[in-house]
Amino acid sequence: MAVQMKGKDVLSIHELSREEVRQILETAKILKLKNLTGEPFQPLKGKTLGMIFQKSSTRTRISFEVAMWQLGGYALFLNTADLQLNRGETIADTARVLSRYLDAIMIRTYAHQEVLDLAANSTVPVINGLTDRFHPCQALTDLFTIAEKKETLAGLNLVYLGDGNNMAHSLIFGGAKVGLNVTVCCPPGYQPDSEIVSQAQADALPTGAQIAISHDPAEAVRQADIIYTDVWTSMGREKEHAERVKMLSPYQVNRALLENAGEKALVMHCLPAHRGEEITDEVMDDPRSIVFDQAENRLHVQKAILSLVI
Ligand code: CP
Ligand code: NVA
Repeated sequence: MAVQMKGKDVLSIHELSREEVRQILETAKILKLKNLTGEPFQPLKGKTLGMIFQKSSTRTRISFEVAMWQLGGYALFLNTADLQLNRGETIADTARVLSRYLDAIMIRTYAHQEVLDLAANSTVPVINGLTDRFHPCQALTDLFTIAEKKETLAGLNLVYLGDGNNMAHSLIFGGAKVGLNVTVCCPPGYQPDSEIVSQAQADALPTGAQIAISHDPAEAVRQADIIYTDVWTSMGREKEHAERVKMLSPYQVNRALLENAGEKALVMHCLPAHRGEEITDEVMDDPRSIVFDQAENRLHVQKAILSLVI
């Protein structure tokens, strides 16, 4: 049965119910099929999405903008450098004002608290387009992509290698909701936030997903169905780059690592990739890499989210 999601914020997967996650994935499947057959689906005629960006973006900006256009609506790109936010207007006042014009707000920023403040003061749904803590739209897309390729999610093993960052956090929350086992394999000191790991383990009780931390890449990938990586230096961490390259190099996704995994293991990356750092060219361009299908699916999954919450 359909779950009512109109007006709902999408701030982190932890705050979505298992039914809501399932509904987003099922809706995305239907909308992707409509895209392929050319059947129009325009439930958002006359609706407007504001997209606030404090950080760079290729996929998120373009896929949200195209998603709104395909759904019959309109999207405005709002660079924080041009908003009065940049001159001291509060996020709460910005939320109150934008709610008078827009039907939904998508935001990409640094502090997750800003997204919480925006949502708390907004009367329209707020969608998190990435914070330092979470990237829910990407992880929902990743679940969709895995289900598309493997025809199931529950009981599969996803091994995430590298920095225990916003992607790692969202993948463990996502895995927990659908029964996908997620191991974050990282150096000590680069582990995901322990509070998020505990919350994900609690979320995983009804689904049986195993959420684990490892420090041994060769061992971790042995049973992997999915090998996932992300940049070692996320946006805002640029000053730590040299140290991160040194610490994270043993966790690079390269051919030697892939040899430890089974033949059927697929490789994922949320992109943008720093080729030669967290992933080598030959693995990015290997037939087992599904990174560009993953990027395409942002469009279909975000269309699902937008059509459900607006
Ligand atoms: N994966 C992702 O969010 O890409 P962008 O930073 O290009 O939006
Ligand atoms: N962890 C990366 C993801 C980019 C989509 C970052 O935050 O920069």
